[in-house]
Amino acid sequence: MGKIIKISALSLVGLFALLVVALDIWGFATLGSITLESNPAIDEDANKVVMVFGATGSVGDGLLKAAVEDPNVDKVYAITRRTSPRIEAGVASGKVVLRMHKDFTDYASVSDILGQTNTVMWSLGTTSIGVDDATYTLVNVDFPVAFVTAWLAARRDAPMSFHYVAGMGTDANGDQQWAREKGRTENEVAYLAQDSGLRTFSYRSAFVRPTSEQAGTLHYFLEALLRPGSLVISAKELGEAMLEISARTTTLKNGALIDNADSIAYAKAYEERIDKR
Ligand SMILES: NC(=O)c1ccc[n+]([C@@H]2O[C@H](COP(=O)([O-])OP(=O)(O)OC[C@H]3O[C@@H](n4cnc5c(N)ncnc54)[C@H](OP(=O)(O)O)[C@@H]3O)[C@@H](O)[C@H]2O)c1
Repeated sequence: MGKIIKISALSLVGLFALLVVALDIWGFATLGSITLESNPAIDEDANKVVMVFGATGSVGDGLLKAAVEDPNVDKVYAITRRTSPRIEAGVASGKVVLRMHKDFTDYASVSDILGQTNTVMWSLGTTSIGVDDATYTLVNVDFPVAFVTAWLAARRDAPMSFHYVAGMGTDANGDQQWAREKGRTENEVAYLAQDSGLRTFSYRSAFVRPTSEQAGTLHYFLEALLRPGSLVISAKELGEAMLEISARTTTLKNGALIDNADSIAYAKAYEERIDKR
């Protein structure tokens, strides 16, 4: 009996190891579709005023961290229905302004700050697991589309960029409802931005490791397993990638799709650029 349990456990570990290796090989071979320019034009003012949606979440905590730590960012607005330790610390430092918000289909109450905002990091979202289709669409499609519509009504001049965290597998023509809906958001915000100074970007990341303040041993274990295939990025790195893409105002076009390997490359470029200052 003991021998059978031992063999079963070893088989499971072996299968898991095979799966990880297969995923890493797949990620290594297929991800990373963008070649970064070596000497890009950088607009240091492109991220002067940043707005973060979803800052209380696992991904948003890292986006907020990246924005707060960026020396070229003057002010960060956190638009949220509740606060967090990082928002509180940012408010205390004077760099973050907290705007409590209830209805994410209506942005009249923040119309006074939309006109000054350059960069929007959007990680407000919900998983499809245990959520009905109507709620999923409301949160992941209607909220961001309503925001971009309101933002463009207040401002249309560059530099403006909208960064949407979609997820790996997002596909407007896909088989699954969640993938189609996030793909619909990608398309709708890019369509709205046409003929304006706004560029919209969608991040099709796989696993976003929480910030060091929120991550546990299991997160770091998974990160170590999935890094070789570029299937993981830290939430702060994802924020850095967004800041870098905003600052490179003449490279990526409106509607560009950023996979996880691309995000990692932009985050690395960001860190090298900021270190050189
Ligand atoms: N985590 C990952 O590895 C990963 C990878 C790829 C893509 N993504 C995508 O990234 C997005 C964020 O993921 P996450 O892991 O950070 O999720 P999370 O930890 O659950 O955070 C979700 C954020 O969205 C806000 N939110 C959700 N429903 C809301 C509603 N009805 N009204 C107002 N705010 C609402 C939450 O606010 P409250 O705190 O007030 O609830 C929170 O700030 C999701 O769309 C997810 O699919 C995540």
